[in-house]
Amino acid sequence: MLYLSQSTSHCQKFLLFEAAMTQASLSADGRVLTLSFPDQMPARFHAVWLRDNAWDAQTRAPGNGQRLITLRDIPADTRIESAAVSGDAVILTFSPENKVISYELKVLLAQRYDHAMPKEPGWTAPHVQIWDSGLMGHVPVARLPDLQADGGTKRAWLAQVARYGFGKLSAGPVRDGALFEVVDLFGYVRETNYGRKFEVRTEVNPTNLAYTGLGLQAHTDNPYRDPVPTVQVLYCLESSAAGGENMVVDGFAAALRLRDESPEGFAILTKYCAQFEYAGEAGVRLTARRPMIELAPDGELIAIRFNNRSAAAITDVPFEDMEAYYAAYRHLAEIIDDPAMEVTFRLDPGESFVVDNTRILHARKGYSGAGTRWLQGCYADKDGLYSTLNALVREAAE
Ligand code: FE2
Repeated sequence: MLYLSQSTSHCQKFLLFEAAMTQASLSADGRVLTLSFPDQMPARFHAVWLRDNAWDAQTRAPGNGQRLITLRDIPADTRIESAAVSGDAVILTFSPENKVISYELKVLLAQRYDHAMPKEPGWTAPHVQIWDSGLMGHVPVARLPDLQADGGTKRAWLAQVARYGFGKLSAGPVRDGALFEVVDLFGYVRETNYGRKFEVRTEVNPTNLAYTGLGLQAHTDNPYRDPVPTVQVLYCLESSAAGGENMVVDGFAAALRLRDESPEGFAILTKYCAQFEYAGEAGVRLTARRPMIELAPDGELIAIRFNNRSAAAITDVPFEDMEAYYAAYRHLAEIIDDPAMEVTFRLDPGESFVVDNTRILHARKGYSGAGTRWLQGCYADKDGLYSTLNALVREAAE
């Protein structure tokens, strides 16, 4: 997802010297281009891929970069007739279109796909850093006014959020709705049946256990929604009650520890869907059917859904596998509850934190009824956060 930062690092490696030393060769049938570099493995590209990913003005709109052609506009028998390196570009002639297209070598290098694919299910994106309680004392934190004032500071903090899945903010205003200033840093509020924001404090008639003084098991929020909210912001406005520390657990770390300790347990939680439900208020009956540990088709670990309060009856696991499924579910819960996995921190008024709700589980320790504790929460979208980060990374690279 952090494509830009990866491409930037590739680009930084691609010096003019290397461009001058790059050689291009074609397979006999013209369907494969091979670029050979002085100090890197060769990179092969298919003719159809190159033609589809051309950046000439007839293929891509010069302003917004959107593709102007469909795949069917490219002949199925597309091949490369000639290839020549010229400066920092490679110039290709495609037939049967008889079309000449120039490609920047550094762009091609950033998009190379001729590499070994990760094999073991549960691999994570390069920017993700798995953590446990060792992260205590190193929680990514920044001052909200600093992020509002300086794009570089914001870029660095958002990169930390992408890396660790969460980040803390301090020195924000103490007033109703201040949490929207946090969302304004990177995106837009996602409104739900709980409203644009929700209050987290003791209520006389709680409609949800989050609003009582009980401690909560670490969880991801709202797994009963489809799609699930991918970012949550929690913002502290009052905190005079004892206890109530916030706690976070890296769900990816928990899943990978399960994989290490019980490969079959990891496999079964990725294989079958759990079900989640919330029907705690009139007119609302939210349900979703998703695995507790979600992998992409190529095995990338992409999401965790874990919430004891909203887990519904699991009915999509075959009878023969249900006991093994429950054993794996229990094992994962034991890992999540292990203090060695958790990082705790206190939120004082004007402080807040942002979590990637597809990865990080959060919880609150129990707090006493004496004094007050008032947080406001809201949801936002991770794609907006990454979009802002990637745009800032590109801006910095220009
Ligand atoms: Fe929550």
